[in-house]
Amino acid sequence: MIAEQRIIKCRDSMEELDSFFNENNINNAFVVCGSTFDKLPVRRYLESYFGKALTIFSDFSPNPAEEAVFKGLDVFNACNTEFDIIIAVGGGSAMDVAKCTRLRSGKKKPLLVIPTTAGSGSEATQFAVVYRNGEKVSIDDPELLPDIVVVWPDMLKSLPMYQRKSTMLDALCHAVESSWSVHSTGESRKTAMKAIHKVLENKDGYLNNEDSGNAGMLEAAHLAGQAINITRTTAGHAMCYKLTTLYGLAHGHAAALCTASLWKYMEDHLSDCIDSRGEEHLAGVMQDLKNAFGDIGFHGLISELNMERPHPKNDDELDELVNKVNIQRLNNHPIKLSKDVIRKLYKEILEIN
Ligand SMILES: [Fe+2]
Repeated sequence: MIAEQRIIKCRDSMEELDSFFNENNINNAFVVCGSTFDKLPVRRYLESYFGKALTIFSDFSPNPAEEAVFKGLDVFNACNTEFDIIIAVGGGSAMDVAKCTRLRSGKKKPLLVIPTTAGSGSEATQFAVVYRNGEKVSIDDPELLPDIVVVWPDMLKSLPMYQRKSTMLDALCHAVESSWSVHSTGESRKTAMKAIHKVLENKDGYLNNEDSGNAGMLEAAHLAGQAINITRTTAGHAMCYKLTTLYGLAHGHAAALCTASLWKYMEDHLSDCIDSRGEEHLAGVMQDLKNAFGDIGFHGLISELNMERPHPKNDDELDELVNKVNIQRLNNHPIKLSKDVIRKLYKEILEIN
């Protein structure tokens, strides 16, 4: 089942959000936001609605460290005010910090999220990612699922191009990985396919920063988030995190490079299928995915975006990448992947001969 969340649309007016705050007697808020908050119209809106009853926490970096959650929690607990709501404004990182802050606070305050990127789908999931000593820690808990999602396409207006492309790729990888996950269901696959079609329909408008393209991409990313909330991600996400920590590649960019290599490998090795539904099921899913991308194909779409690949400095980095793959996520993958195969895939991703 896809969990129920309230969706509030802010396209032409703020009426629905105003009424939500009014009707629920929400008079003060703890806001977790990224560094772009100052430039966004949401800041003016929240300040004019809440006035001084607004506590802002933004002391964290992208791909946040666990300490950032502890700091957020300190600020949350140090205030004399009993907050009526926690609001996250930002991409995956801000949402994940807010989700963990609420969980760790032990207080069941409503969590409202306003995504400022169309990609992570974190607004639709019950999991969060933080980093402990540079290593990724995944938290999976029903209490992490936000209660209210505000879909506000204007938030995407000032998104820089690299982030715009990478977050779109993140949403696409969520939809692709969810489709082939061993945990996929009829419902999750339908949602994932809808997400892929919506990404492709809105890609050009979104890359040109048009209002309807931005609105469509937010919807697509949300659908892809709903799909992975059912299935979890697979090898693409298991392999991509270390590329981000080693080379500073944006998460979606790294995930897309991994997913592209995996896709080719899987097509050639369907007989290594470990999904209990069998090789035929997987072949059907792969065909559906191929059809969904049409002429451009997943690989064509990535090439069209013209993004640079990282190049490792030495063999130790390759060893590190192979050894740091998240084994748990590999279990969701429908094809058996040995360490040797993963090494081969990383070599292809990094263009090492
Ligand atoms: Fe992702």
